[in-house]
Amino acid sequence: MVLTAGGLGARAEARCRELSRPPYSEDANALTRTYLTPPHRAAMDRIAEWMRAAGLSVREDEAATLIGRLEGAQAGPALVIGSHIDSVRDAGCYDGPLGVMLGLACVEALAASGKRLPFAIEVVAFGDEEGSRFQASMNASRAFSRRLSEVKLDVRDRDGITLTDALTMFGKDPNKFGAAAREAGSVLAFIEPHIEQGPVLEAAGAALGIVTSIAGQWRLKVRFIGRAGHAGTTPMRLRNDALAAAAEAMLAAERIATKNPAGLVATVGQVTVKPGAPNVIPGFAEITFDVRAGTDNVRDQGLQQVEAEIAEIAVRRGVGAEIDRVQNLPAARMDTQLQSLLKRAAKQTGHAAPELMSGAGHDAMMIADFAPTAMLFIRCAGGVSHNPAESVRSEDCEAALGVMLAFIDLLAAEHAS
Ligand code: GLV
Ligand code: MN
Ligand code: MN
Repeated sequence: MVLTAGGLGARAEARCRELSRPPYSEDANALTRTYLTPPHRAAMDRIAEWMRAAGLSVREDEAATLIGRLEGAQAGPALVIGSHIDSVRDAGCYDGPLGVMLGLACVEALAASGKRLPFAIEVVAFGDEEGSRFQASMNASRAFSRRLSEVKLDVRDRDGITLTDALTMFGKDPNKFGAAAREAGSVLAFIEPHIEQGPVLEAAGAALGIVTSIAGQWRLKVRFIGRAGHAGTTPMRLRNDALAAAAEAMLAAERIATKNPAGLVATVGQVTVKPGAPNVIPGFAEITFDVRAGTDNVRDQGLQQVEAEIAEIAVRRGVGAEIDRVQNLPAARMDTQLQSLLKRAAKQTGHAAPELMSGAGHDAMMIADFAPTAMLFIRCAGGVSHNPAESVRSEDCEAALGVMLAFIDLLAAEHAS
């Protein structure tokens, strides 16, 4: 029996909007939902309700990943569909949640059709893809995919709360964090539907796209240590201004990336200045760098150039510079067989679904080394993302669900005994 979408894709889109307000957001007038916060808990509880109503048995792992499972006709590895439910600050509501809601819609369509799959199906909602709270990102999907040595439990949020303490406050036992690691061989395939977050599909007139690979990223925290002083009495030549050094480093990174012919991108998204008064020369400045490229070679060369500039600027300006490589996310390739199945599913349902690379990071890049992994991208208006103006058409969500269901049919046919 061929499964049909029947309005469930549009409901998936509407559910993302429902989750964009308090109590699912830390801000009254904007969407901010970071890892292990009360809005994260509220969103997990609401999604768990939807999961139970869809017939899933629901559990949470020790990294606060929500997992709904429907058993299949045969024991064995599960098809896992999902994405993340944490957000950046002042976010759009589809980056992450749409993938979870489309996974849920797949299960709802299966239930409506009465069809039983040969394999179990799971819908997962990871809580830490963005790293908005603890800087290092993807701790939940790292744990899921057995990359436990990469998780630092002593990282701190802006208020000095460690990941260990945040887990405890969320009702988790940090000593059992490793129990979130999935058994080797327990995942048949991981599929992450996600908005594109870029303009390629819209420009191509395509509702959907199939991801070939995900760009690699570095995240740095760089501390410039100068000397605070009086803004009125200290001549310019006698200053060691930490913020001016940071500003120069920021522009150097922009220049390096702009001149790079291979698509290097570099961003400074966070600045902390101390003491932070109009009449005091900044003695301390900490800035973050996010450096990415489609290949690790280009990304690593870009990083080296940025770090060399930071060192040169610091010496010339007489300030200290401490570079902390907070996160290394190598580029990830998506599974070619799953890409072919998605392509066939798209064709069957009348969609061109061009191939494209993802410049954004995804939980899929953590899971790709653990289980066959693929991503289906959904067009978003103007390519706008990490912005409250993020927007998708409900008919595109319906189309994505149709492709997912056709994909599940094809995968089930491959695994029918
Ligand atoms: C997540 O959206 C990222 O690409 O950083
Ligand atoms: Mn994001
Ligand atoms: Mn995302």
